[in-house]
Amino acid sequence: MRLKDCHGFSDFRELAKRRLPSPIFNYIDGAADDETTYERNTKSFEKCDLVPNVLRGTEDIDMSVNIMGQKLEMPIYCSPTAIQRVFHHEGENAVAAAADKYGTLFGVSSLGTASLAEIREQYKGPQCYQFYFHKDRELNQSMLESAKNANVDVMMLTVDTITGGNRERDLRTGFSIPFQLSLGGIFQFAIKPMWALNYLTHKKFALPQLDDFVDMSDGPISIGRYFTEMLDPKMNWDDVAKMVDYWDGEFCLKGIMSAEDAKKAVEIGCTGIVVSNHGGRQLDGSRSSFDQLSEIVDAVGDQIDVIMDSGIQRGSHVLKALSLGAKAVGGGRFYLYALAAAGQLGVERALELMKQEIERDMRLMGVSSISELSRNNLRFR
Ligand code: LAC
Repeated sequence: MRLKDCHGFSDFRELAKRRLPSPIFNYIDGAADDETTYERNTKSFEKCDLVPNVLRGTEDIDMSVNIMGQKLEMPIYCSPTAIQRVFHHEGENAVAAAADKYGTLFGVSSLGTASLAEIREQYKGPQCYQFYFHKDRELNQSMLESAKNANVDVMMLTVDTITGGNRERDLRTGFSIPFQLSLGGIFQFAIKPMWALNYLTHKKFALPQLDDFVDMSDGPISIGRYFTEMLDPKMNWDDVAKMVDYWDGEFCLKGIMSAEDAKKAVEIGCTGIVVSNHGGRQLDGSRSSFDQLSEIVDAVGDQIDVIMDSGIQRGSHVLKALSLGAKAVGGGRFYLYALAAAGQLGVERALELMKQEIERDMRLMGVSSISELSRNNLRFR
């Protein structure tokens, strides 16, 4: 199987599975507890049917959207995700370059393996910084300042990781950061020699946003433990309000699931929220983002940009979310499997196929621009 054999989400997933050592594949592929929310995230789109119109002359398709002051050429963006260098040696550069080429947003993570400033330097397209609020307030201040100095367009604070999700697959495989080739897992790596060779012969694993502040000399820890031990469980609305004031620009909360919280985000001056359950990786049993979307759009959709992620695998999922009132959607695994499968070329192919799906589905729906989508296009079973 090669990149040209990938025609959609499940093909990229399959190729990633073949190319990655299994602990790494399972880190991307896995979720919390019994993974019920993870499964439901995509299934929830099946409860909703699209109702197309015909004979509307849909030759020219404009799928661009505007969120938080940024024009995106397509309504799906690459959600910021951690440690991309572990998935493919091109890491964040591959995702940044592909997103830039397709004119969409991407983000460097606090747990990114490339420097936020260096990536900003190289790619001028819309860019966000994904922020984890650490116990170490000095680290928080330093990350905020670096992002400000780098002129990042959007600050995106993740608010659903106040403690680690129970990722049982990671506990079983021992997947941890800083990522090391452990003796225990060596067999897995020996049977994926291309990955191992690339990993060892390219730039060393580093977490440039954190390296000066976080002491990992006690040995590697799981992502779950990282969240639990390093992130601040005391983080509250006052802390975030101060961050919003300091940032003084486009500020987005990722991981909002209740209308009550969405209203608070508006009150403290956020300009966007991402309805998200972190791809099912945090609170298992949490409602799916798509099921929860209309409640939040109805509460605050006219005051703030409501975006959603978690579960999107198809162009039709994107159109359903936008018809319900989301201004754009984010995707994680949809480009991460592709990154793991083939680096930048993989991410470009994932974006290209998604673009074609959205374009084809818009034509079939009888709409030429995203603003023509509405709840009239949807029926729930
Ligand atoms: C995760 C974090 C790092 O879900 O976003 O693993």
